[in-house]
Amino acid sequence: MAVLLPADDAGVSAAADMIREGKLVAFPTETVYGLGTNARDAVAVAALFESKGRPRFDPVIVHVASREAVDALCGFVPPLARRLMEDLWPGPLTLVLPKSEAVPDIVTAGGEWVGVRMPDHPVALELIRRASVPVAAPSANRFGMLSPTEPSHVLQQVGERIDAVLDGGKTPVGVESTVVRVVGECLELLRPGGVPVETLRRYAPVGPPEEGGGKLLSPGMTKKHYAPSVPLILVDAADDISSPSPNAGLLAFRAVPAGGGFARVEVLSPRGSLREAAANLFSCLHRLQSSGVSVIYAEKVPEKGVGLAVMDRLRRASATVPSAGGG
Ligand code: TXA
Ligand code: MG
Repeated sequence: MAVLLPADDAGVSAAADMIREGKLVAFPTETVYGLGTNARDAVAVAALFESKGRPRFDPVIVHVASREAVDALCGFVPPLARRLMEDLWPGPLTLVLPKSEAVPDIVTAGGEWVGVRMPDHPVALELIRRASVPVAAPSANRFGMLSPTEPSHVLQQVGERIDAVLDGGKTPVGVESTVVRVVGECLELLRPGGVPVETLRRYAPVGPPEEGGGKLLSPGMTKKHYAPSVPLILVDAADDISSPSPNAGLLAFRAVPAGGGFARVEVLSPRGSLREAAANLFSCLHRLQSSGVSVIYAEKVPEKGVGLAVMDRLRRASATVPSAGGG
């Protein structure tokens, strides 16, 4: 079982040593908990894939603590990427850039592009600094399941397969980073996330990914993902559900519906804030899942700002096709 380390000086140092040695350490970021190891150590990264049950074709993000660290990982950093790093890092934005030879193939799933990000969380930054290696880290959940925003979520899903969890409490943003591939002066949106697309449009045109020759570019785009262990059904509003099944749970956006009839209700944001909704999304879903309901109804939220990422996760959680990728 993983040891739970406090995020104090000694805890962060111990975790940094473990990462450098290629052990598997879950740590808080501003988005969700990551499961980190030394990105230069291909054997350690292989163990990381295994602990998540993640297929090898799905690349992992490399986390850095400074903008300069990107130069060792990327063959070429376009000026647009530099501007985004300058303005939006540290923050929930992953830039997919041409990789250098320093990045082991397993990190990029054999591809020529590497995802890099500088997280906006003091514990994560201090951890990466002290490890003094780039940190490969997917979200610290079993493949395809709900992402972890609290240490207990990590322990439940992968606690027996990893070495340590650095306890930084609840993660503030709550949805994963926005992932964009930088192609010259244009951006391809691979995954909506913590940085709104509206913000990125101030820098460059943002388009859909080019799926050259039917090849899967970003496996996180695949349909079924971020899923609770019970079926999830998207609805416009809870009041539209005439008679919920007897053991149904509800993920409400703003308010508990007047009619009642649900075994358990979780509210994302009583004041209707999309940021608050994003921050609470996975905790609410984890609570609904473990409350024993047999189905979860989820209310749609407005698709603007970080609401786009919330709806993206809810749509994937509600998809019925078998999981094909992501993590
Ligand atoms: O907020 C986050 O991004 C969190 C924290 C821990 O940083 N990490 C995270 O990692 O969500 P993961 O592995 O669960 O999701 C990363 C997504 C996947 O959809 C993956 O396919 C995509 O980013 N990705 C990573 N590297 C890529 C690359 N080289 N090319 C294309 N897509 C990439
Ligand atoms: Mg993930």
